[in-house]
Amino acid sequence: GNPHTVIVNLKNYKESTGQNLIGFLGSLKGIENEKNVRIIMAVSPLDLVNAKKYSSYEIFSQTVDPVPKGAFTGKIPIEGLLEIDVKGSLVNHSENRIGSEKIESIMGISKKLNFETVICVESLEEARRYAPMKPEFIAYEPPELIGGEVSVTTAAPSIIRDVVDACSGSDVKVLVGAGVKNADDANKSIELGAHGVLIASGIVKSHDPLKSLKGIIQGITDSC
Ligand code: G3P
Repeated sequence: GNPHTVIVNLKNYKESTGQNLIGFLGSLKGIENEKNVRIIMAVSPLDLVNAKKYSSYEIFSQTVDPVPKGAFTGKIPIEGLLEIDVKGSLVNHSENRIGSEKIESIMGISKKLNFETVICVESLEEARRYAPMKPEFIAYEPPELIGGEVSVTTAAPSIIRDVVDACSGSDVKVLVGAGVKNADDANKSIELGAHGVLIASGIVKSHDPLKSLKGIIQGITDSC
């Protein structure tokens, strides 16, 4: 059906990339997931092939470009991702903003190729602008809270509700992120009408990433 979703963004953190990628992904094995929460790892393009090879989690890219295969040096075509069985990507993450024209082009190609997108937005206005493009997900992350101690669910509950409202007409699932750390934060996000969470430092920088991910899954399933 329509499972809740957790996306773990590995960013370019030392703990979760390069030499440490396989160890990190390995440490997250063994999640009990009876309610079938959809768990996705958003991985740097540098690490996608290894992540596919060594992890059984769903793998998304952290970025993608609106180009076909061809003479496009340094770009990441959607077709190229699909060839390595990566079926989705973050788009316009707060740390990698690309502007509305490029987002629109990416959406055009994604729809044709059945590629899933997570358009990241920093405000209600942006959620309203991008929801009609019908990405699989809109992820609301206030930039000032990213990587911090205060969860978006505590700092901006009413904006989360508004974003959920803005996206419901287009049937777009809302994820929330920034400062999400524990079961309570995850639980609150579902109560506010979100479909799930996008989380980075709360897992990657945790001294026990598996325990932290279990907490997030627990928080989400408790509210189902
Ligand atoms: O994409 C998720 C990320 O930007 C949130 O970061 O560290 O606040 O969970 P963090």
